[in-house]
Amino acid sequence: MVSNSMNIRRVAGALGAEISGVDLAQPLDDQTILRIRRALVEHQVVFFRDQILTPEAQVRLGARFGSLNIHPYVAGMAGHPEVMEIIKEPEDRVNFGGGWHSDMSFLPAPAIASILYGVEIPDFGGDTLFASQAAAFEALSPGLQRTLEGLNAVHSAGREYSPQGHSAQKRKSMAVAEAEGAVGEFVHPVVLIHPETGRKALYVNPAFTLRIEGWTKRESRPLLHFLFEHCRYEAFTCRFAWSAGSVAIWDNRSVWHFALNDYAGQRRHMRRVTIDAGPPDG
Ligand code: SIN
Repeated sequence: MVSNSMNIRRVAGALGAEISGVDLAQPLDDQTILRIRRALVEHQVVFFRDQILTPEAQVRLGARFGSLNIHPYVAGMAGHPEVMEIIKEPEDRVNFGGGWHSDMSFLPAPAIASILYGVEIPDFGGDTLFASQAAAFEALSPGLQRTLEGLNAVHSAGREYSPQGHSAQKRKSMAVAEAEGAVGEFVHPVVLIHPETGRKALYVNPAFTLRIEGWTKRESRPLLHFLFEHCRYEAFTCRFAWSAGSVAIWDNRSVWHFALNDYAGQRRHMRRVTIDAGPPDG
């Protein structure tokens, strides 16, 4: 399907745009996918309203952006291992994604994008916050930028998914497996250069970044603490209020996100597919 009526409206100063005039459930032509990809790279997170996405349609849409991830610790849907159900039941206390992070930075090759679809949304609350890590990098002094560009950081899923992890095992509504044994540590540059735009972004996050490579945890703590505080500054953020049928697509290479847990006693049900590697056509 060709969408000639696609309209893109920015929603905040640092990042975020709402796209209307496209039905994501239809088989989309290459030009439409290209326009969405360009908007995603430019705005870092894009939002759509009033969509009806079956799991099959969400997988089909995700596959247009690249190969799909199968989460190593969270079970996918039966018959759709690439689709992760993110559910918080009224009696649950802990939510999934309730802290600033970039998806899958704990893998050797982290995910490049995620597509989240709202199935059931609480009457109030349950918004998702996004923070531009490109804006965060650009706001630093040239001196600190240069220093950070020479550093790598060590990431791991251990805090979230190991048996000692602080939250994964408390999410009873989701099939979250504890990692058995070592979850592995993987090194990524502290400053990522976006392969499509050349724009630089900070790439450390409080959920998965353990330390600066070659530094002890104690030595790393003050710098990481500074960056974690800096990176969530309000002017770098936007906030998405979900309705059933909303879709958000974000670029994990330059965006943090945070699922707010402010809807106790209500149910929230989302489905996510996560894109591992670049688009099939380069
Ligand atoms: C996540 O992918 O971290 C979940 C985001 C959300 O549920 O809003």
